[in-house]
Amino acid sequence: MKTLVTGAAGFIGTALSNRLIQQGDQVVGLDNLFTGSPDGLLPEVELIQGDINDRELLWKILQGVDCVFHLAAKAIVPNSILYPREYEEVNVGGTVTLLEAMRDVGISRMVFASSGAIYGLQSRQPLKEKATKPKPASPYAVSKLASEYYINTIGRLWGLEAVCLRIFNAYGPRQNFSFAHAPVIPTFLRLAASQGTVIIHGDGHHTRDFVYIDDVIEALISASKLNNCRELVINVGSGIETSVTDVLELARKITGGSPEVVYNPRRPGGPDRMRADLTLANQILNFYPKTSFEEGMAKTFELDRRLHKNSASLNHK
Ligand SMILES: NC(=O)c1ccc[n+]([C@@H]2O[C@H](COP(=O)([O-])OP(=O)(O)OC[C@H]3O[C@@H](n4cnc5c(N)ncnc54)[C@H](O)[C@@H]3O)[C@@H](O)[C@H]2O)c1
Repeated sequence: MKTLVTGAAGFIGTALSNRLIQQGDQVVGLDNLFTGSPDGLLPEVELIQGDINDRELLWKILQGVDCVFHLAAKAIVPNSILYPREYEEVNVGGTVTLLEAMRDVGISRMVFASSGAIYGLQSRQPLKEKATKPKPASPYAVSKLASEYYINTIGRLWGLEAVCLRIFNAYGPRQNFSFAHAPVIPTFLRLAASQGTVIIHGDGHHTRDFVYIDDVIEALISASKLNNCRELVINVGSGIETSVTDVLELARKITGGSPEVVYNPRRPGGPDRMRADLTLANQILNFYPKTSFEEGMAKTFELDRRLHKNSASLNHK
């Protein structure tokens, strides 16, 4: 089996590419290294440095590919509010460029990394693929929803076998983070370990559905094996709501640190609550997340040396 992973040098792309190699696949990765780094990839992954909107490059690297995992994207929500045009160009334009190139080369199987962010602010939880009407609250979320529509519409017209996975908050070792982009789990673990100052936007009661990287990879691989899939959109989360305050408490416990905590007015772009309904994922992907939040946080801290007190290797990109 030969697979193309776009965004292969990113957090999820690296874990997925390495896992595909370990299961015996041939993996070609495409990444422009905008936020990604080739450092974590196994040497067997053939990484091509290039842009998702480069049609000629896509024609070349798609030759002989059986399945495409499309993960390349700009994925920093606050930046999308500042630079929506770039998010449209890479996330939506890149998806359509890839779809055209797949048609030209004759490849019909795709798994797309969509996002739970498309749901936005909702009064009812859990969030259901069919029953919950998307209310994207950022250009990033709009770009993911637009990509889903392109994939489903073009997929129907051209006979693609495509699955869109609405991934909620993925976390784990090697998650991409910097001062400008501070996902809550690595940031809290690092600040707790170094007795730093944690800034909580809002009162800390807002919740997210955190899903460990190994479980996300399971879902992506299961989705790639589905047959006769048309217009399939499936949530991938833990199915559990965890508050930001709970993340902080666990970070304290795991690291043994006692960071200072400062509460700040909330930044725009984030809903109060998020929990994925996993009924479809259970039924269609046989997806049952295996890693508990406590276990996932502990593993993240143990395996990611950047989070430890004396580490100077934070990715500042
Ligand atoms: N991490 C999460 O919690 C999460 C949740 C929902 C959806 N997703 C989606 O999953 C995918 C992977 O997320 P991630 O957390 O690994 O993010 P990431 O930023 O680590 O990975 C994205 C990769 O895409 C590459 N890239 C960006 N622009 C590109 C371009 N023009 N051409 C080629 N490559 C380009 C980046 O260099 C990076 O390596 C993204 O599409 C993201 O939107 C992630």
